[in-house]
Amino acid sequence: MSLPRDPAAGFASFDALREVARGCTACGLAETRTQVVFGVGDPHAELLFVGEGPGEQEDLQGEPFVGRAGQLLTRLIEGIGLERSDVYITNVVKCRPPGNRDPLPVEIATCRPYLEAQLDFIAPTVVVTLGNFATKLLLDTKVGITKLRGQEFPFGDGAVLIPVLHPSAVLRNTGASLAQTRADFVTVKRALRARATA
Ligand code: URA
Ligand code: SF4
Repeated sequence: MSLPRDPAAGFASFDALREVARGCTACGLAETRTQVVFGVGDPHAELLFVGEGPGEQEDLQGEPFVGRAGQLLTRLIEGIGLERSDVYITNVVKCRPPGNRDPLPVEIATCRPYLEAQLDFIAPTVVVTLGNFATKLLLDTKVGITKLRGQEFPFGDGAVLIPVLHPSAVLRNTGASLAQTRADFVTVKRALRARATA
């Protein structure tokens, strides 16, 4: 299936976009996935999270960030006074890479129009990239997450992008990375408040 060059222009609505994505076989990940994991939450959210790709639980349940890393993400969201239903959560690739391997550059590039279209429709004021893959893609950088985390970068039309450590990395590490991530979420909260419209 070929995707339109200007993604949002090619889809009448967010629902139409999701329906097209659900049937997508544009890259090799279609062969091994159980289902496409498009995203979850409020399509009008001010805050958008972008992870890497679905894991085993996400592939089975059809929802991003529902496994162990997802439970940590949920706690971090609740820690700044929000619910999962207040935000939108998606991934760089919408289908699970087999064995949780890293997504390949060709898979990331092929899936990218869906993320771009989600960004266009949702038009969040704050984008949080979770880990290296989302950060490198959306900031178009080769700089690693540990150097970039917790900083605010201008993004799109008046929005801000804040990279944070991937919750799976936080779970693998100890102590400091959880404290850093909690602090970065406070930065996210502040950025949301600064952009809140009366
Ligand atoms: N890790 C991710 O990057 N995304 C998910 O949806 C789950 C785990
Ligand atoms: Fe399509 Fe993206 Fe799934 Fe590849 S990962 S099949 S591009 S939805």
